[in-house]
Parts: sequence; C-alpha cells; structure tokens
Amino acid sequence: MQERLEALQAEAIAKVEEASDLKALQEIRVAYLGKKGPITEVLRGMGKLSAEERPKVGQMANDVRAAITEKLEQKEQRLEEEAVEQQLAAESIDVTLPGRPVQVGSRHPLTGVVEHVEDVFMGMGFSVAEGPEVETDYYNFEALNLPKEHPARDMQDSFYITNDLLLRTHTSPVQARTMEKYEGKGPVKIICPGKVFRRDDDDATHSHQFMQIEGLYIDENVRMSDLKGVLETFAKKFFGPDQKIRLRPSFFPFTEPSVEVDISCVMCGGDGCRVCKQSGWIEVLGAGMVHPRVLEMGGFDPNKYSGFAFGMGVERLAMLKYGIDDIRHFYTNDYRFLQQFKRA
Ligand code: PHE
Repeated sequence: MQERLEALQAEAIAKVEEASDLKALQEIRVAYLGKKGPITEVLRGMGKLSAEERPKVGQMANDVRAAITEKLEQKEQRLEEEAVEQQLAAESIDVTLPGRPVQVGSRHPLTGVVEHVEDVFMGMGFSVAEGPEVETDYYNFEALNLPKEHPARDMQDSFYITNDLLLRTHTSPVQARTMEKYEGKGPVKIICPGKVFRRDDDDATHSHQFMQIEGLYIDENVRMSDLKGVLETFAKKFFGPDQKIRLRPSFFPFTEPSVEVDISCVMCGGDGCRVCKQSGWIEVLGAGMVHPRVLEMGGFDPNKYSGFAFGMGVERLAMLKYGIDDIRHFYTNDYRFLQQFKRA
C-alpha cells in the first residue's frame, strides 16, 4: 500500500512538471485527486485494513494528496506568470521608433489676405469695424444715395429675403452704420472686411458669394490726394515697393467724384500680358470722395467734414498676389490647393 501511494505521488508530480498549460493541470487534478481517482480509491478501501494499519495509511494518503495539490498549485502559478510575461513581451512598445508627424492646418488664403490688409491699414491708424450680412434695404442702398427705383441698383443683382431685407451686396452699408455711431463727430477711420452676396453666374472670376474690404475716412479737410496716398501706400505694402497705382474716373452713387483704381500688372510689371489684357494695368477697387448727401444722411455736416471711401475685392487681391486663375479654388476645400498657403 505504501509503495503504491509513493509510486502515485511520483507519477503525478512528474506529469505536473511536464504539463505545459492550465488545461493539462486540470486534467491531472481530476485524474489523481478526483472522486474516481486512485487516492480516493485507497481511502475507500481502508475498511479492509487492520486497526493498526488504518491511521498510518490514512495519514500517508492525506500526505500524498497534499503533496500533489501543492505541486499543482505551484505549477499553476508559474504558468500564469509565464503567460503574463509572454503577453508583456508581445505587446512591448519600441520607444525608439520615430513618431508620426502631426498634421497642422493653416489659415485659409482669404483669411491670410484679410489679416494682411488689416495690418497695413491699422499701421495707418484705421480700426476694424463689422456689420451684418443680412442687411436692410435702407443701409444697403438708400443711405448710400441709392433710393428705390434708382437705376444704379441694377449694378448689383441682389438676394432679397423680404421686400426690405437682403443679403448685403457690398460692405458699403457699414459706412452708413459707422457714421451713425459716431453721431456727426469725426474723425472716422475704419476698414470693414466681410462677406457679400450677388445674384451672379458663377464662373472663373465671379461667385455669388465673395469678400470685400470697405474703407472709410471722414475728417475735416480730407482730400482726394489723401485717398491716393493711402491707396498707394497700401498697394506698395501689400504687393511690393515697386507697385504703382492709377486712378480713372468712374461712377458710384455714394461717392463724388468716383474713381476706379488700377494697380500696375503684378504678372508683367506693366509691360502688357494676358492677365492685364496687354494694358499693363489691373482694376482692383472702387473708391471716391464720400457724397455730401451720404455724409448728411449719416449725420455729418458736409460743410465741415469731407471723406473718402473705397471697396476692394478680397478674392481679386488674393488671385493677383498668388497667381490663382480661378476664384472657385477658394471655396472647394481642395487640400492640394490649401496646403500651398502654409507659410503665406
Ligand atoms: N461698394 C462698391 C462696390 O461694391 C465699391 C465702393 C466702395 C466704391 C466705396 C466706392 C466707395 O462696387
């Protein structure tokens, strides 16, 4: 009996040592220590033993059971530790690998141009004003000397919301709104960038929505030469020191006299090319001396005050500065296009 128990113990322990996973250990546990296992069998057969032998064999069987159990538990723990180690090794991170570059966005080219223009005018003492994109007929037209039925309203086909409300067709209504705020007291010196809307057919140079930057300067003794000087300074700061400008007579109901302002062609420098249609000049903005009626409606005394105003197209400026040939590039969010302005 003693030999049989010793042999069982040796056999079970050898198997435990060989076992390579938890499932094998469980099978060994069932086979040796289970209800139908050999040790249970020994204990069950104890009735046939003598009273002298019985406690010895019982003790021995319990010792064998304890020895096998202990061995099983040790092995189980070792296998679990190994599993964790293997998992850690498999999942380890190589901290020496180079990281993935972070994609950094950039300003939209139109935002960049607006900020550049703001910088230049702030350097000349202008501040930045704003106005609503949904505007009343009064500010968009009437306060700018464009009464109802005025034929010049046809120059700007409009998106009407009601008879009296529309998407502003230009940033000029901010002139009227700003004048009201100043309550007849100069100086007024503002620029106003913003979106404007016209019922145009969209093509390479037209869009139903685009951006303008308005300028307004009202004070005593503001003259046309001031307008010319400010715009010339702007052109040189924005496009480069060799930039020239040219004023041509024009018409706007809210300025008198009115001018169309050209810059020397940024592509050919004035020699004549396809972009300037061989003229050497490119039109970039409308401007003029604020009409006395407009000053009056805005609460300024035209006998005391005079002023100039201008309005320029932001897309136009950006297209000329960067040589962009289609206005629609600005609105289609093509990553290849936008990426080119990272450092601009
Ligand atoms: N508002 C005019 C336009 O959109 C431009 C302009 C502004 C002209 C200010 C003169 C003075 O065409």
